[in-house]
This record gives sequence, structure tokens and C-alpha cells, in this order.
Amino acid sequence: MAEGKTGTTKVLMEETRIFEPPKDLAENCNAWQWAKKKGFKTEQEMRDWCGENYIEFWDEMAKTYADWYEPYTQVMDDSEKPYFKWFVGGKINMFYNAVERHIKAGKGDRVAYHFIPEATDQPERAYTYQEIYETVNKLANGLKSLGVVKGDRVSIYMPMLPETVMAMLACAKIGAIHSLVFSGFSSKGFGDRVQDCEAKVVFTADGFYRRGKPMPLKPQADDGVKDAASVKNVIVLKRTGLEVPWTEGRDVWFHELVESQSAECETEVMDAEDRLFILYTSGTTGKPKGIEHAHGGYCVGPAYTCKWVFDLNEDDVYWCTADVGWITGHSYVAYGPLCLGITSIMYEGSPDYPDFGRWYKIIEDYKVTVFYTAPTAVRMLMKQGTEWPEKYDRSSVRLLGSVGEPLNPEAYIWYRKYFGNEVSPIMDTWWQTESGCHVISPLPMTPCKPGSVAYPLPGFNTTLFDEDGNEVPLGSGGNIVNPTPWPSMLRAFYKDEVRYKKEYWDMYWNVKPGTYLAGDKATRDKDGYWFIQGRIDDVLSVAGHRIANAEVESALVAHKDVAEAAVIGKPDEIKGEAIVAFVILNTGVEATDDLMKALRTHVRTSLGPLAIPAAVIPVQDVPKTRSGKIMRRVIKAKALGNPTGDTSALANPESVDYIPLI
Ligand code: PRX
Repeated sequence: MAEGKTGTTKVLMEETRIFEPPKDLAENCNAWQWAKKKGFKTEQEMRDWCGENYIEFWDEMAKTYADWYEPYTQVMDDSEKPYFKWFVGGKINMFYNAVERHIKAGKGDRVAYHFIPEATDQPERAYTYQEIYETVNKLANGLKSLGVVKGDRVSIYMPMLPETVMAMLACAKIGAIHSLVFSGFSSKGFGDRVQDCEAKVVFTADGFYRRGKPMPLKPQADDGVKDAASVKNVIVLKRTGLEVPWTEGRDVWFHELVESQSAECETEVMDAEDRLFILYTSGTTGKPKGIEHAHGGYCVGPAYTCKWVFDLNEDDVYWCTADVGWITGHSYVAYGPLCLGITSIMYEGSPDYPDFGRWYKIIEDYKVTVFYTAPTAVRMLMKQGTEWPEKYDRSSVRLLGSVGEPLNPEAYIWYRKYFGNEVSPIMDTWWQTESGCHVISPLPMTPCKPGSVAYPLPGFNTTLFDEDGNEVPLGSGGNIVNPTPWPSMLRAFYKDEVRYKKEYWDMYWNVKPGTYLAGDKATRDKDGYWFIQGRIDDVLSVAGHRIANAEVESALVAHKDVAEAAVIGKPDEIKGEAIVAFVILNTGVEATDDLMKALRTHVRTSLGPLAIPAAVIPVQDVPKTRSGKIMRRVIKAKALGNPTGDTSALANPESVDYIPLI
């Protein structure tokens, strides 16, 4: 966290449009049903009560959404802050909750995933809960036969496939700790993570499909593990049939391992605090942080939010487009929907293959009812115009979700219209790898403002602090903090106690010990609606005023000719920082000087003179992570002529070349 970057910001632009959810949905959604049963008259009353009585609230959620082998004796133990414990003494297993209990309840025939390969000439295929149950049991026995025991780490470097989820579940079942590494990471990125968590076994695939062509993955996996002495076996899924390099004695085919095993396997009884997974996320330094999550709390957070925020019920067809290698995939492709016994879509490939109609076609084919994606994808599709959505029937969609970046009002309106038929409300969900589940989000009955994530969810006391730990009033911005813990919270950084404390807990330790610093800034308008401004270190300081990069970007993309914008600060002797904006224009728009001038004026009109960019520079593309986050750090380094550092996390490394020196 950068020193001196944590002050409050003023709200520059007020959003006045409000979208009411459809009456029927607002009345009958799961969240409001619960509120009515409890006798709450308003949503605000309900949210307030759940915050004040968060222990009681989470206790109820844990009993409602999770099945326990043995009940816990204490809901939460904060005696060793910042190491909080939830559901103390409780015995549980995520696999039992995600799959096994549905089989026991006679629901094995339900489809867990409709798997859609990217190539249109390959068959689409349904995976039932029963089939997943049997394969995972065999795979779990296979892992045991390789010597994997409770507490061992298993790295998973696999593409978006049902088998990837099954590998996760097999680990959960026997109490091994999985650590997924997104398959688009370089071999070095993968190797660093394998070495950090000292994985005993690695899962990978021979390859994956990209734009219809098989691409190798096994060679990268081999390269990644070459210096990892802890790795005893590499389990290889056959997906493409590509020939693979093979290390005798170490490498094992996934299918052979499964075939050789019995379909009977006891599920390990885990303590609520036993670790379920480690997921690496990038911090402000180059070294990734291994965020640890626990079985008990994580059985609760994703399932509760799937039920309340996404309003998922058994007749829904749900689709979260995230890759399972990210936290969104863990919580909202794998564990959350599985815990509720939901039917999901899993699509292997990219949204533009074979053309930009692919996602809409899948929605039409499967009558998707609840759809969750990222603003970058929405903006990318928006840039293609309305021709694609108009070709397909999207009328089945009743609820939308967004995550990962601020959903700027222009994209919000478009998303609502072309994915949501102008009726489906958008749950813009703010959360993090660290939180494990949604933290700030509308509920289906919440009147929504475009660009806003509404309010902290029931069970959270999330608020905004200034530098000194004072709560900031409505109309101003500050640091997002959680003064109270929640079940699916991070438990630790793998092997890095110092950094865990420093990054999340030190900032307000003297004010209120145990206050979690999220590392994001946000503002609340006079009605209490939250607007995310971006990371603390992504805040500009212009002439002593703090302006969030995201706010300027949002103003720019609101212009009809702009598709994407990335804003950085350039050191300025007089002002401290000058704003420099890189813009990607809509297809067919010419990058004239007049347009660049007009864009500066446009920002002035939207946000005021303080926020006028010193320069607006048209570019072909900007560097982004594979989960769609604009890498301002890389843009800034390139534009200022500094070393760009590790760019292995980029989805589009070539875009770095488009950024000129400024
Ligand atoms: O900056 C916030 C942004 O994504 C960060 C968390 O990133 P990660 O751990 O990779 O998890 C992404 C998926 C949860 C946050 O600190 N972020 C997440 N959701 C939103 C968001 N920014 C604005 N609006 C959101 N809805």
C-alpha cells in the first residue's frame, strides 16, 4: 500500500437514475422471503439487523446452507486476531456439501454442468451430480494411491473443463489442499506457485482449445515443475490428443488413474478450520500472495450469496463465465452453485469464437436464467454493436451479475438492455479473492443505480474509513474496511505471517484491532449507494486532490466514441500528478486531434476541471490481466520509460508495445 494515498475523496459525479427490479422478483426472491419471515419491513432494516447481529446471522446461514458431521460449539472465535476462527469444533467437508449430500437426497440425476466445448463440431455434454460423485471418488482413491494425504498441497494447472472441478473436489474429499493456477499463466508463473506451496502432485492437461485449435499445455507444466523438488507426480488429462513429453515414473494419465480405482471412497471428516485451498493473487509487490481458505466458512459464504444475491433455485440454468482458475470460478462456477445443487453452464472457450454471437447463442440454446460476467467482457461485446444480441433469443434471462471492475453506467445500461431484456436487474458484486464471497452487492429486491454496487450485504459491517480510522460520512469516499469478520474470509497467507498482518490488518490496528483493510477505495452518495473507485494505489493525487483513476476512466468510456480507457498519473512538478488517459476508440472511429480535445472537454463536463486529462492518447489496446483487469502499473512503467517488470500475468503482452512514451 502506498504511503499517503489513503485519504478521503469527494464524490465528483452523482448518479440519479434508479432501476427498480421487477415487482414479482422483488417480492418472491429468496432474500426477501427470508426477510419477510423474520418480520422486517424494509430492506434497510434487514441489512442493519444482520450487520448488528452478525454472529447470529452467520450461525443461521451456516445451519441453513451447510451440513455438518458434528455441530460447532462456538460460532466465531476472535481471541487470536487477526487469525479468526469460524464454527469452532464443527466437523465438515466441502465435497460432502457440494456433491455427496445431493446423492444421498436422491438428486444424483440432476445436471451439475452442461459442458460446451469451444469447437462447434465437438459434442456438448451434460455431467450429472451422480457422474461427478463417482468420478471424484475414483480420482480421490487415485490421489491416495499416489500417496497424497490430508494437508498435502496439490497444484491444478488445467483449462476450463469439468475435470478441473473434479480435481478440486477430489482434493477436498480427501482433505488435500488444492491450489489452482490459471492455465493461461506462463510456465514460470505456474512454477513459482508450485514451489511456494510445495505441491506433492500436479494436475495438468495435454492441451486446450483456443480459437478452434489445439494448443499444448503439458510442456509448460513440465517446465514449471522442473525445479519443484516437492512434486512427485503429474496427472495429465487427455483433452486434445496432442502428443506430450512424458516422464516415466512421474507422469500419470488422468483417465488411467480413474479407471483403475474403486468408486467407493470415504470422505475425510475435516475440522471447520482445516484448509480447503490456497489461491494466489497478485499484490502490490511482484510476489504473489497465497490466500488460504477453510472448509467450514467457505461452505457457507458462496452458497449463501448464490441463494440470496443470485437468487438461485433448482429450476435455474446458471452461467458464470469466469475461469475456474480465479476466485470467481472457485466460488461461483464450482463450490457455490454445487452446494445448492444447481445446474450450471460451463463453456470452454472465448466469447468471440466462432463469432461474437457465441455467448448469446449459448443463452438461447440452454435458456440461461442467471448470467454472471465481467465488465471487460460486456464492454468488448458492446463494442461489436447490437447485431449479435439481436440475432438470438435472450428472453430466458431474469437476473444478471457483474464482477471484477467497476461496471460503468454506459456498459451497465447496455448490459441490462442486451443481456437483460431491459428488465433483469444487475447484481454488481464487489468482493475479492480474500473475501471468498460477495461482500457489497444489491439483492434482487434492491433498487439499483448504474455504476453502483449498492450496499454491504447482510452479515457484513463493511464501511469506509479515513486515514485515521474515522468513518467517513455519506457524500465522501475512503478506504473499504470490514470491522467485523465473516465466515469465508481469508485465514492466512501461506507461509507469510508478516505480510498477512501488514497488508490487511496493521492499518487500523490501533483504532480497532481486527479491522480488515480491503485495499480498495469507494464513495457513498447521499443515499448511501456505494461506488467502487479502485485500488488504494490506483488513486491519483492532482494538485492535492485525490481522484480515482476509475472515475476518470468511467467518464471517458461514457463518451460514445470510446470503448475502453486506462488512466495513469504522470509525475508533475506543479500538480504532483497529471492525468494521462489512454483510450481505445470504437471500431470505425478516427483518432483525430479534435476528438482528443473533445474527450478532454467531455471529462471536464462530467467531473469538473480538476479531472481534465493533460493528455488523451489513442491506442490499439491496453495491457490487461486474464481476468480483465487493466494493468495500470505496466502502462505507467512503459509510458514513463521504466522497466515493465513481470508481465507474465497479461492476457495480451503485445499491447505493451502500443503504449508510447509520454
Ligand atoms: O479492486 C476490486 C476489484 O477486484 C479486486 C479483487 O480482485 P480479485 O481478488 O482478483 O477478485 C476478483 C473477483 C472478485 C477488488 O479489490 N473488484 C471486484 N469486484 C468489483 C471490483 N471493482 C469494482 N466493482 C466490482 N464489482
